[in-house]
Amino acid sequence: MSAPIDPTSTSAWAELSAIRDSFSPDLRGWFAADATRVERLSLPLADLHVDLSKNLVTDEIVGALVRLAEQTGVAERYAAMLEGAHINTTEDRAVLHTALRRPEGASPELVVDGQDVDADVQDVLASLSAFADRVRSGDWLGTTGKKVTHVVNIGIGGSDLGPVMVYEALKPYADAGIEARFVSNIDPTDIAQKTADLDPETTLFIVASKTFTTLETLTNARLAREWLWAGLSAAGAMDDDDASRKGAVAHHFVAVSTALDKVEAFGIDPKNAFGFWDWVGGRYSVDSAIGLSLAVVFGPHAFRELLAGFHAVDEHVRTTPLTQNVPVLMGLFNIWYTNFLNAQTHAVLPYAQQLSRFAAYLQQLTMESNGKSVRWDGTPVTTDTGEVFWGEPGTNGQHAFYQLIHQGTRLIPADFIAFVNPAYPLADDGRDVHGLFLANFLAQTKALAFGKTAEEVEAEGTTGALVAARTFGGNRPTTSIFAPSLTPAVLGQLIALYEHITFTQGVIWGINSFDQWGVELGKQLALQIAPALEGDADALAAQDPSTNALLAYYQANRKH
Ligand code: F6P
Repeated sequence: MSAPIDPTSTSAWAELSAIRDSFSPDLRGWFAADATRVERLSLPLADLHVDLSKNLVTDEIVGALVRLAEQTGVAERYAAMLEGAHINTTEDRAVLHTALRRPEGASPELVVDGQDVDADVQDVLASLSAFADRVRSGDWLGTTGKKVTHVVNIGIGGSDLGPVMVYEALKPYADAGIEARFVSNIDPTDIAQKTADLDPETTLFIVASKTFTTLETLTNARLAREWLWAGLSAAGAMDDDDASRKGAVAHHFVAVSTALDKVEAFGIDPKNAFGFWDWVGGRYSVDSAIGLSLAVVFGPHAFRELLAGFHAVDEHVRTTPLTQNVPVLMGLFNIWYTNFLNAQTHAVLPYAQQLSRFAAYLQQLTMESNGKSVRWDGTPVTTDTGEVFWGEPGTNGQHAFYQLIHQGTRLIPADFIAFVNPAYPLADDGRDVHGLFLANFLAQTKALAFGKTAEEVEAEGTTGALVAARTFGGNRPTTSIFAPSLTPAVLGQLIALYEHITFTQGVIWGINSFDQWGVELGKQLALQIAPALEGDADALAAQDPSTNALLAYYQANRKH
């Protein structure tokens, strides 16, 4: 794998540095002077309409950013990823989540490391669809012959955040009378609360874990199995012998994993397991069999529409020149803000309650991918990397943290996401509530961009010290992403958009966006510390003074 190109050594970086040194953003002036700004900076991305015009960029800046992408090899690296090169260098793996959404019969066929990737993807999709249809139709029954009413996905990180986000987003499409729940945290509260009102006879657990070694997931899976056995026994629906226990698991547990041997060792029949491959990163896996719960609740057809949405964006990235390439441009703008204008965070603000988990999902996607200090060849990065992504749906955020975005001292680029048509078209006294909602989206992006001058404040009759307090500086950058409706395809497009933004930034920084070594140390230490909580002398002796003091507090206050 070629060495990363140090972005700071490129002529484009020098150009951008020079522009930054005398940069004075002026969105009001830029809009006034240029009647075509909105048109030039509004781009289609499949079903999405992306308005980039309220970003702090000029043609000169966009040109230099595109040259930066060219000089750091963004297009070449994207091509390498698509053809299955091992761009995940630290794990020596291909990175092929884009293959999960290639349509049946795509050409040329994709064979990587001797694996017919297309054939394998279609095989799993077919068995996942068949299984989902069986559960939905009532052909798959619980051990007492009852239809499944609830699926509980047990997984964490990429094996949870994607499914739960999509579930919340597409709930209006649930059409089989099946509800999904998601258990992720090893905090026992999670599984206790999520199963409290469920009937074991009608509950199906999906244990979702790429590695099938994750402490949280396996612990919760064992707790779920105990819950199932205890519930069935209490209802007189299960005998107290191994064969009955095995039979109960066979009817109420399925798994999704790359480690099918470990699935079997857990006691789940491999014929009730759905595979994927090591070239799918956890945070890029919602479109793999990890999305099984979604196929069950929304149907295989909706799941395939979601995949088609992803694929449309993959194709846009592959075939569109960098100057019009939406994910690449958005990634480049993030580089401009992070590395030249010193932004440290990036807000994602959906004007859609259905996207309430979107920011949480993006946090793993972006921060586990690009929160790195070394490059793909092991050398240190040469710039700041990985901004903090965060957000909440509007309008809730308006009444919480928008004050800081409008008038604080920090630059916070923000993406606003909105949909023309609501899932629930309600009226309040004859007035379309969704219209009112959208007015807020438009008002916020307008206020952030253009602000309110002291003269305008004074013209309203305000005087004295209040004038400054009521003045808005504007020039707060936003991107508006608008789509007709939040459909499965549109959601796939949105997710893929952020995958490719993340990829673009990673390439420019020289980062391997597909490993996550930074989560390992904490996992190892938790296993070392766990015995100390039980009073194990060796484990206690191995701790630092602060940890020991916290352990002592725990011992002094524990009630169980
Ligand atoms: O926390 C790190 C991580 O490996 C994530 O990248 C992954 O999505 C999550 O744990 C869950 O892993 P698994 O699917 O193997 O249980």
